[in-house]
Amino acid sequence: MRKKVRVGIIGCGAIAQHLHGPDYACSPDAELVACCDVVKKKAQLLAGRLAPDALIFSDYKEMLKKAGVEAVSVCLPNYLHAPVTITALKAGCHVLVEKPMATSMAEARKMLDAAKKADRVLMVNQSQRLFPAHVKAKEVMDSGIMGKVLHITAMFGHSGPEDWSPTGKWFFNKKEARFGAMADLGVHKADLLRFLTGKEVSEVNGFFERLEKPRATVEDNFVSALKFTDGTVGTLAASWTVKGAEANYTVLHCANGTLQICLFPDRPLVANLIKPCCQIVFELPPPPTNAAGGWGLDAGGAFCRAIKGEEKPYCTGYEGMKSLEVILAAEKAALTGRTVKIKH
Ligand SMILES: NC(=O)c1ccc[n+]([C@@H]2O[C@H](COP(=O)([O-])OP(=O)(O)OC[C@H]3O[C@@H](n4cnc5c(N)ncnc54)[C@H](O)[C@@H]3O)[C@@H](O)[C@H]2O)c1
Repeated sequence: MRKKVRVGIIGCGAIAQHLHGPDYACSPDAELVACCDVVKKKAQLLAGRLAPDALIFSDYKEMLKKAGVEAVSVCLPNYLHAPVTITALKAGCHVLVEKPMATSMAEARKMLDAAKKADRVLMVNQSQRLFPAHVKAKEVMDSGIMGKVLHITAMFGHSGPEDWSPTGKWFFNKKEARFGAMADLGVHKADLLRFLTGKEVSEVNGFFERLEKPRATVEDNFVSALKFTDGTVGTLAASWTVKGAEANYTVLHCANGTLQICLFPDRPLVANLIKPCCQIVFELPPPPTNAAGGWGLDAGGAFCRAIKGEEKPYCTGYEGMKSLEVILAAEKAALTGRTVKIKH
């Protein structure tokens, strides 16, 4: 019989309901044994839907002491990621923490140190790495068929967190979120670009603005120009003011053609090649949407298999930190009006 990892969820809001909870409930590698939320009703609702026998807590430290969990998902507002992750690691738990993994590089480094000291797995839920179109795009890029990447365009935008998490007021508060659209959405694309191309960003420029969310203390739009260590250039944009269908696409213009990723809803991955001149349309499921009960990415299962040593983590703490570094550099560039260099 497969060993099931005993997991707990800390923070039972939107991402726990859409991804972590359903993933653990469906995975043969996980047993959801505890749910914790400072609003106890939310923990009760999540457990009631997915794991009726799970223990309910409103204090995560009590959960770490009493629930016998081996691993936790940290699904909290951004400013709590580092302290709660470090406490959980010190308590001997493996941790899957939500993105962005922290609100500063210093915090991220402390999280990595704590994982090393505790000899526990630390993963960051850069969940876009698991989208079927992104998994296939990575295969295509690694095959070499597209040739060298020359120019990149990446955009992630939707109408804002108020439509995603009705109770998630913290998204708009700088003290709790650190950034707005860039931390929420831009970090996904910063990570995806690094994942797909295997390149690191070396220089960053940026502009941000608050255009439509008057009560927010963070930006609702961010655009950043990137230069990679090999000279590849690109733009990364994040927005909370996109009307209608969300924009969640990446285009890699390469020496042998262009790879269009999630640019067209009905064709999640299209390669347009020049030699031979042809178009390859990959048959893939569409990107996950919030309309469905769960995203079906199996992030929770992948975390448990990484704990058991059965597969590599899809995003290590280190990888999460390198992606965080890009958005922090973009913020610094936007604040100072100067190009920011990233050393590797
Ligand atoms: N990977 C993805 O695609 C993705 C998508 C959306 C959000 N996220 C990330 O997930 C995290 C959570 O976002 P969300 O949309 O679920 O927010 P949310 O506000 O819906 O949920 C957060 C939950 O944490 C609870 N909470 C706050 N402080 C707590 C504490 N001290 N102890 C226990 N519970 C506490 C809140 O009551 C709330 O239920 C954020 O970091 C966000 O960036 C990731």
